Amino acid sequence: MKKFVEILPDKASLIDRSLEIVLTKLKSTIAAKDRCAIALAGGSTPKPLYEALASQSLPWEKIHIFWGDERYVSATHSDSNQLMARQAWLEKVNFPAENIHPMPTAANNPEADAKKYEAELRDFFQTESEVPVFDLILLGMGDDGHTASLFPHTEVLNVSDRSIGVGNKDGQPRLTFTIPLINHANCVLFMVAGENKRSALQQVFADEADARNYPSRSIQPQGELWWLLDKSAGAVLEK
Ligand code: 6PG
Repeated sequence: MKKFVEILPDKASLIDRSLEIVLTKLKSTIAAKDRCAIALAGGSTPKPLYEALASQSLPWEKIHIFWGDERYVSATHSDSNQLMARQAWLEKVNFPAENIHPMPTAANNPEADAKKYEAELRDFFQTESEVPVFDLILLGMGDDGHTASLFPHTEVLNVSDRSIGVGNKDGQPRLTFTIPLINHANCVLFMVAGENKRSALQQVFADEADARNYPSRSIQPQGELWWLLDKSAGAVLEK
């Protein structure tokens, strides 16, 4: 694993830098493999990045969009990560519909939908036993140190034999990439902004801390790990 940590002056410059890195990764991957598989983060931080990507000129037909986690709500629900990305980016450019792979949430059975998405990954990556290798996974981090829907002290943190699990936030189910799937990625990019993330970041970056308390500590991909922090979140690491 190669780790990069950058502290940007403010959120706007964090988004600009994340755009630079994402564009570089998309273009280099497409040049090498003629396609790129990227998993999107939910939450609010990445929305301006998705809006910026909507004004880029890219070979959208060579880019496949997945989600690293999803609230277990309909695709039209205001909490849907899929809806946010579609409105900010995907609907504004000419993405082939078959290139967009949302997490299913319609079975009224999170475990069944997790298995369905796992099967979709196996089909896309043409792998039965190997863990799929994403070219790029975008992640945020909550003020409790969670990432994707890998929340502290939840069962999904223990999943080692599946790529998609069922997370749990305050009793609400969520579909999520598991730690093994994220850690097989060629590149993982965290975008973390805001003073409220400061204390969790300290624990995530500490020499010693319990990863069950701060699940983002468990993200150690085999490829590149990027942490893009704004000053209000990351200043604490500069000391
Ligand atoms: C989600 C996200 C989640 C998010 C963090 C940070 O579905 O909410 O995947 O992991 O990235 O909670 O959220 P903010 O970017 O809104 O702070």
